[in-house]
Amino acid sequence: MRKILVTGAAGFIGANFVYYILKNFKDDQVIAFDKLTYSGNLANLKECEGDKRYSFIQGDITEKKDLQNAITDQITHIVHFAAESHVDRSITGPEEFIHTNVIGTFRILERIRELKWTEQGGKKMLHVSTDEVYGTLGSEGFFTEETCFQPNSPYSASKASSDHFVRSYFHTYGLPVVTTNCSNNYGPYQFPEKLIPLMTINALLGKPLPVYGKGDNIRDWLHVEDHCSAIETVLAKGKTGETYAIGGRSERTNMDIVNQICAIMDELHPEGKPHSSLITYVKDRLGHDFRYAIDCSKTENELGWKQKHTFEEGLRQTVEWYLANQKWWESILSGEYKDYYKKQYGN
Ligand code: NAD
Ligand code: TYD
Repeated sequence: MRKILVTGAAGFIGANFVYYILKNFKDDQVIAFDKLTYSGNLANLKECEGDKRYSFIQGDITEKKDLQNAITDQITHIVHFAAESHVDRSITGPEEFIHTNVIGTFRILERIRELKWTEQGGKKMLHVSTDEVYGTLGSEGFFTEETCFQPNSPYSASKASSDHFVRSYFHTYGLPVVTTNCSNNYGPYQFPEKLIPLMTINALLGKPLPVYGKGDNIRDWLHVEDHCSAIETVLAKGKTGETYAIGGRSERTNMDIVNQICAIMDELHPEGKPHSSLITYVKDRLGHDFRYAIDCSKTENELGWKQKHTFEEGLRQTVEWYLANQKWWESILSGEYKDYYKKQYGN
């Protein structure tokens, strides 16, 4: 029986991962750990309240005491999602990214070093990272596990640094750690600051759809459930000390995504038709990476992972989720998000 501590469990991917484990692994226990920052939301974990295999601890990964309290000898696995995750926020305020993503990851590594974690002892920590550590691609080629790190934003620089610490703790201390570098996720519970929920919600509210630059930047989209199944696969079968790239083989330009969302909204919310009239081109993001695309052959071939969702089906299901869960995002929009939105996009 595994006792899995999930950091950042009240965030988008963390919450989806908690559900994934509770649903598919009946013998596992999950301890959700989260500071509940602006993007952490207990409402994301509502459906597992009452499950005896689930518990929640409010804590901060940068605080030694909180980690001593949560990472006890009984914990067998850690899946580490907790982070500051939004590129635009890292551009306006980088310091919190260094604190949380670098120091926080370092403190978790120190805690498992203190507890003398070994693979033979049945322990493993999985560090969840991003493909943004590899920098940007031109129109050709793919990122793989062999690609050099060339982070371009304060967010990706902080994640790259945390990846390096994880690597160094394997090489220096032999700790049982493994890292995944994943492409852009989408799906239920994603915080409304990110492209897909932001465009969906704005379309429904009849607000401008702010496309950075010309909208020709490309991302490789992966459904969050497929990311969760990949993480579980690496947790169970990944070799410690290694990294695994995870992607959706679904490259789309930002314009493609926004147009697809508008078309789905025209169908599901015909009163707002045509939603494409809301598209507004705004000032480009500073240092905006042009293209991300992952070749995930290693994860597929060595570990046997395969994604299930197609992008078009997954996007429709996601838009439907935001339409059906208006209360969830309305409560977010009424808080800190209002000030962020004003600062980022003006009135
Ligand atoms: P998110 O912003 O939705 O969630 C982050 C969670 O971490 C929140 O619940 C927040 O409260 C918590 N947190 C922040 N600081 C903390 C601290 N000091 N102590 C404890 N908890 C803290 O982010 P997400 O999109 O779910 O991303 C999760 C992880 O996956 C991140 O590490 C991110 O870098 C990585 N990742 C995300 C994507 C993506 O497309 N979203 C892609 C690849 C990798
Ligand atoms: P985002 O969801 O922030 O993810 P990331 O920056 O980590 O890839 O953005 C995805 C793409 O969408 C990125 O190229 C920036 C673009 N974008 C917009 O054009 N407008 C927006 O309002 C946002 C939030 C993003």
